[in-house]
Amino acid sequence: MKQQPISESSALANELLTLALGIAQKAGELLSNRPDTFDINQKSSARDFATHMDHASEKLIVSEILAARPNDGIIGEEGAARESTSGITWVIDPIDGTVNYFYNLPGWNISIAAKDEDGVLIGVVYAPTLNSLWHATRGGGAFLNDRPIRATQADLLSDSLIATGFSYDLEERVRQGEKIASLIPRVRDIRRNGAAAVDLCHVASGAVDGYFETGLKEWDLAAGGLIAREAGALVTGRNGSPAGEAMVIAAGPALYALLISEIG
Ligand code: IPD
Ligand code: CA
Ligand code: CA
Repeated sequence: MKQQPISESSALANELLTLALGIAQKAGELLSNRPDTFDINQKSSARDFATHMDHASEKLIVSEILAARPNDGIIGEEGAARESTSGITWVIDPIDGTVNYFYNLPGWNISIAAKDEDGVLIGVVYAPTLNSLWHATRGGGAFLNDRPIRATQADLLSDSLIATGFSYDLEERVRQGEKIASLIPRVRDIRRNGAAAVDLCHVASGAVDGYFETGLKEWDLAAGGLIAREAGALVTGRNGSPAGEAMVIAAGPALYALLISEIG
């Protein structure tokens, strides 16, 4: 692993963060102008779709990134894919929570992260309907609307509010439902907000105590995962393995240990 002097790497992180904050807010303005009708394209199943606004948001984000940093790579949920020659790759979810957006429910957000060879370096999650702009830089802490945030110190399942989400895959949904059925009598309550990046940010800012979900993709997890970690949460997969599609568990340390023993 190539070590960069701290001042150089934090200057780069600040540059990327400033760019991401500006772009997320531009995408937020675009999306806040909700159309009356939607063009829809189906993805993995009838439940999984993108609207023309998902594509418009991704187009705006990609063109703004490349105008500022033409040698960076891009991974976008709606198909943007570009190799990096700079060592930086952006990971974008142009609307996280498309179903909420489509129904005009709050919580949909724009999730933008940039990663280097050591992992995610900066993350921004912007949810205009919640008036919430979260950000973090690796080693630099996590913030909601520029105020530092911390995950809760919950240490009892019975006192914990737990967020989760359900897969677009029906068989996986049934397994997730069974897990929730066994957990719900033993926790304070369950929330299904409909946007994974905001669920992770809610762990970071203490709006829920913990979160778990299977089936997340890199663009669901990259920015929110960094924000949760920088707020003191642990974010892994089953039994401490790396967080990813198989499982994401996020919570402050004591509750995290309880969720790991519940979920694996
Ligand atoms: C989805 C949302 C949802 C989560 C799904 C994600 P999308 O993202 O974050 O809350 O349960 O796993 O795929 O498709 O709206 O970008
Ligand atoms: Ca998403
Ligand atoms: Ca999306």
